Amino acid sequence: MSNYHIKHLEEYYQVYRKSVREPENFWAEVAEEHFMWRKRWNTVLNWDFEKPEIKWFEGAQLNITENCIDRHLRTKGNQTAIIFEPNSPEDEAEHITYQQLHDRVCQMANVLKDKGIKKGDRVCIYLPMIPELAIALLACARIGAIHSVVFAGFSSKALASRINDSSCKMVITSDGSYRGSKTIDLKGIVDESLELCTTVEHVLVVNRIDSEITMKSGRDVWLQPLLDKASTICEPEIMNAEDPLFILYTSGSTGKPKGMVHTTGGYMVYTAYTFKNVFQYKDGDVYWCTADIGWITGHSYIVYGPLANGATTVMFEGVPQYPDFGRFWQIVEKHKVNQFYTAPTAIRALGKQNISFVENCDLSSLKVLGSVGEPINEEAWHWYNDNIGKHKSPIVDTWWQTETGGIMITPIPYVTPTKPTYATLPFPGIQPALLDEEGQELKGNQVDGRLCIKFPWPSIARTIWGDHQRYKDTYFSAFNGMYFTGDGALRDEVGYYRITGRVDDVIIVSGHNLGTAPIEDAINEHPAVAESAIVGFPHDVKGNALYGYVMLKETGESRDQNNLRNEINQLIKDRVGAIAKLDKIQFTEGLPKTRSGKIMRRILRKIASKDLSNLGDTSTLLNPECVQVIIDESL
Ligand code: PRX
Repeated sequence: MSNYHIKHLEEYYQVYRKSVREPENFWAEVAEEHFMWRKRWNTVLNWDFEKPEIKWFEGAQLNITENCIDRHLRTKGNQTAIIFEPNSPEDEAEHITYQQLHDRVCQMANVLKDKGIKKGDRVCIYLPMIPELAIALLACARIGAIHSVVFAGFSSKALASRINDSSCKMVITSDGSYRGSKTIDLKGIVDESLELCTTVEHVLVVNRIDSEITMKSGRDVWLQPLLDKASTICEPEIMNAEDPLFILYTSGSTGKPKGMVHTTGGYMVYTAYTFKNVFQYKDGDVYWCTADIGWITGHSYIVYGPLANGATTVMFEGVPQYPDFGRFWQIVEKHKVNQFYTAPTAIRALGKQNISFVENCDLSSLKVLGSVGEPINEEAWHWYNDNIGKHKSPIVDTWWQTETGGIMITPIPYVTPTKPTYATLPFPGIQPALLDEEGQELKGNQVDGRLCIKFPWPSIARTIWGDHQRYKDTYFSAFNGMYFTGDGALRDEVGYYRITGRVDDVIIVSGHNLGTAPIEDAINEHPAVAESAIVGFPHDVKGNALYGYVMLKETGESRDQNNLRNEINQLIKDRVGAIAKLDKIQFTEGLPKTRSGKIMRRILRKIASKDLSNLGDTSTLLNPECVQVIIDESL
């Protein structure tokens, strides 16, 4: 029996049971039947969560681009692989066939080689959502270079720290980007960041907005003329299954961002298999994920997962509100999108607009709706179901993480009955567990605790670039022998999971993970600031917004607080990026601390959310008196 495509609930349970009882056989069958390997593996899985060390398909050899492109050429060479929908609806969409994708990926791969990029070198990609972005990922993979995509909304400092952390030799960027009615000077940001970097030898620049930019001679070069001259043939580098495919940075609760390392074979198998089932993708469907390729969702479910299935995947350059709030629905109608995958924050923002934006569009092509990135609240779920799915397209609320590489807990549409706000059941191969604070596993249903995973799956990140100890400490030390997700969850009476949110100091704002530490570090750089603490508080569009408690070195009324607020937010924008700006800043004379000197964010979180009913025991604080002062100041 092929387990590749699950079509009904009984089959899901059968497949799931097999994936737990005989995980190695299960994954070997999926891997063998649906992918192209240059050499078969010796062992399916080797793992040790103590070390931690996880290896899938050891001994196997492959190139992921052969699986995502070459093998489709014979039957689907003229089928569209990527539909590029530009920022402005007045510009024409571009349809890139599998054959054209092959040729363009090979050309870019040859340019990279020409510039001295070799297997194992790190290439930083800082591009807007244009075809060259997807092509750059695949070109790196073609020659075995490790891509590190940095979301093109990050500041120059954030970009520099990521380039330096993994010693990238090259940056691929563009002169600028379109974002709604604005343009952004991406090359200027790259130039600024490279003043802080020493490892970058070459910068390849895509001409996107035809702007005047400075090119540093010997380092910077326009990409298109090089592509025009490059051959459309580039033999794929043969990779071991466990060779790194990419690094992608994600925020941690402390310190600098973590460069999660994903490897080749397992990542390919898992993203392709989940894509097929979670979206019930059928040949000829048009699939659209609205994420940016700068995040894991874009890596796994715009590029690798869809292309490995020979799908047609839409890439949208723009934003949901430009030129008006109907843009998403117009794109669904225009390209007859069958599967639509977006984030709750977008659903909430669009749900606030006049319903005529939706009603003016023909959404009848839709078959599956997806949600990802943060818990979807009940109201947003129903709005999505009523107005976009019209009760006929199931919503898949997919829970997963940068670290997991692929979707972990999710309904399978037309298979798993959905329930608002529930991610429902584990995907085959995923063994979740809920633990209490003492580390005891909570068995049975109707329990809630910390969400862990007991057994490896093929696309789990293998390490943090350059810091394996941190990988161990962050994910494998909190609960013995298990991967700890950092999320809380509950399991209802039928065994469905609902993700309740982060239990650490990561805050999800508009679906973006933000660690509190880097933001606090930025604030503390202000000469007037003594100390600060950031917490999240509920926001009806962003899910969470940021609330900063800031202690000044000198108190008193003499300073202009509004000026200070602007300066603090400017610092955050420069150091971290605009997405981390604070919605509220409260200047305070003290921060509640434990006797060991740790800030008690739990209390600050409650005050920020105006939930003063149960602040818990404050008597053990070093300075309990400051709690009432902070409450009074906040009113
Ligand atoms: O807290 C969970 C939340 O997003 C976190 C992972 O963020 P990131 O690594 O940026 O990846 C986002 C895209 C996969 C998780 O730890 N999260 C993600 N999906 C959901 C979610 N929370 C609730 N429901 C979801 N469907």
